[in-house]
Amino acid sequence: MAGRDGNDERALLRHHGDVDAAPGLLDFAVNVRLTRPPSWLRDRLAAALDRLGGYPSAAEDAAARHAVAERHGRRPEDVLVLGGAAEGFALLPVLRPTLAAVVHPSFTEPDVALADAGVPIHRVQLTAEDGYALRPELVPEAADLVVLGNPTNPTSVLHPADAIRRLARPGRVLVVDEAFADAVPGEPESLAGAADVPGLIVLRSLTKTWGLSGLRAGYALGAPELLAALARHRPQWPVSTLTLEAVRACSEPAAVAEAERAATEAAEHRQAMTAALLGVPGVTVHRPAAAPFLLLRVPGGARLRAALRERGIAVRRGDTFPGLTADHLRVAVRPPETSAMLIAAMRAVLAGTSSEEVA
Ligand SMILES: Cc1ncc(COP(=O)(O)O)c(C=O)c1O
Repeated sequence: MAGRDGNDERALLRHHGDVDAAPGLLDFAVNVRLTRPPSWLRDRLAAALDRLGGYPSAAEDAAARHAVAERHGRRPEDVLVLGGAAEGFALLPVLRPTLAAVVHPSFTEPDVALADAGVPIHRVQLTAEDGYALRPELVPEAADLVVLGNPTNPTSVLHPADAIRRLARPGRVLVVDEAFADAVPGEPESLAGAADVPGLIVLRSLTKTWGLSGLRAGYALGAPELLAALARHRPQWPVSTLTLEAVRACSEPAAVAEAERAATEAAEHRQAMTAALLGVPGVTVHRPAAAPFLLLRVPGGARLRAALRERGIAVRRGDTFPGLTADHLRVAVRPPETSAMLIAAMRAVLAGTSSEEVA
């Protein structure tokens, strides 16, 4: 993105899939599994409405933290309930890092939050040639804050937990954004349960799996002193009663089992969708993919995206992610009957494009 001034770049970094997915379009731009929370969760939230007359209580906070702790094999004091993983990024500057290493291409909010606070940032640029694999040696020793996503949005790469562990150092905070970890069957590379990694903060989100983007609900896992430092300037009652209820409900064993079934189904859909996309001439799919979305590379990607939009289909532009180009597109994994509509439209558009180009 060289040559753009700071404001332009900030606006691009602040671009998210919800902007691409205008109402009425068939949505492959947003990676949320459900368009609304499931009915059992809606009922739990509706029941909690009657408690809104009071401030969120210490007992409700403790119950939410207890449920999260049980889910990940941690202690309740290792849990900080957040208004979404995004709040976790916004809190990072309070740790006063002197050099933040932010791994790209990845979700861009940490970069924006740190840059806005004036924190010096070193972008660790992973490349397609390496399969966007994490290369710990690219992280400067001087970085006292390191941020990365696992699995990574938008590449769908799942980094080995051991490679991430190697980034931990005394005096360094290591933030792993696991917003999509619950969409990976068995969560094999998650560090949510790792209480032994110094300086580790794992951020988790309820947004993606539970259709709760509008509620703002997630949590951080880490050492209590680190979480206390992170929360230092938060207001009194930083999260709502409904958020606490959602965090508690989605951490209970039945919900975790439901998420696991959904993750397994998404993995099957991803496999089918990948095979179908690979059959479209000119389309490359970045593999192996582990998350409920795929990173595509298509020559003329920007034109394809515009043409799909005209046909009522939204895909996420890739060029707002540092290191990617206008030929990159991100698509959410959907069931075969839905992804078939995308693939048919892509085939039609690309066939038209090439015949025009030949003509
Ligand atoms: C990788 C990643 N991390 C974090 C977030 C933000 O999650 P939340 O809705 O919990 O703030 C998103 C949202 O798109 C995301 O894609």
